[in-house]
Amino acid sequence: EFHLPARPANLQSDGPFGTWDLAQLQRGFQVYKEVCAACHSLKFVAFRDMAALGYSEAEVKALAAGFQVPGIDPATGEATLRPGLPTDYFPSPYPNAVAAGAANNNAIPPDLSLITKARHHGTDYVYSLLTGYRNVDTFSIGGKNVRDEFPEFATPPNTHFNPYFANLNIAMAPPLTAEGQVTYAEGQPRATVDQMSKDVAAFLTWTAEPKKVKRTQVGWPVMGFLLFATILAYLAKGQVWAAIK
Ligand code: HEM
Repeated sequence: EFHLPARPANLQSDGPFGTWDLAQLQRGFQVYKEVCAACHSLKFVAFRDMAALGYSEAEVKALAAGFQVPGIDPATGEATLRPGLPTDYFPSPYPNAVAAGAANNNAIPPDLSLITKARHHGTDYVYSLLTGYRNVDTFSIGGKNVRDEFPEFATPPNTHFNPYFANLNIAMAPPLTAEGQVTYAEGQPRATVDQMSKDVAAFLTWTAEPKKVKRTQVGWPVMGFLLFATILAYLAKGQVWAAIK
């Protein structure tokens, strides 16, 4: 049950032959928008980038307009909030880091655009972190109870024990706790905590490297061409030096 370093999310985009599962990316985006966006920004993802997941221009406009982004009031020149445009980026819900910390017991929710790159085994890590909250009193590894091994270990107030988090106690309360917390469209898998965690991990894999599938797909013909060019160069070398014994 408990995997280290992380439970494999086993996504369709994994590996050199992987492709995006657009339905999964849309579900994952739904989880981000309805749950994670309450605390986390995606400052490197513009609303218009969502067109790549299959949303229409009208849907992107409506999506953008549903977010408040920092702007300038043209009348007064004061900083203000205005509805988002397709060219804006997924904003932080907080005006600044101090406000973000104040709302979260002094822990600042990090931007999630690149989180699957910033952590080792990032995709699997996000999936594992979201499903990895445990009761420390009953948690065992290799048949050894953590409480028995480390009686001094404590989870401070307002933190939550999660063995996947590097310092074991994370300030983020479990964000996905109940089946059906997000309502998936007809014909999609059941929105279990496991499924929602996998889907949002898939979405955050895409945000961190939207060109991943294109990159691996272009790689194969490139390898073929290089192999062909190598053989050609070898044969040409034989020709060029044929006269010399
Ligand atoms: C940290 C993901 C929802 C507050 C994190 C981290 C990830 C993450 C990957 C970073 C862990 C690390 O540094 O390695 C998510 C996802 C969410 C979600 C995928 C939605 C499913 C939320 C919500 C809140 C929140 C709704 C606020 C109520 C925080 C805070 C931290 C954090 C305060 C910093 C924790 C610390 O440094 O101890 N989150 N999060 N998150 N998140 Fe979330």
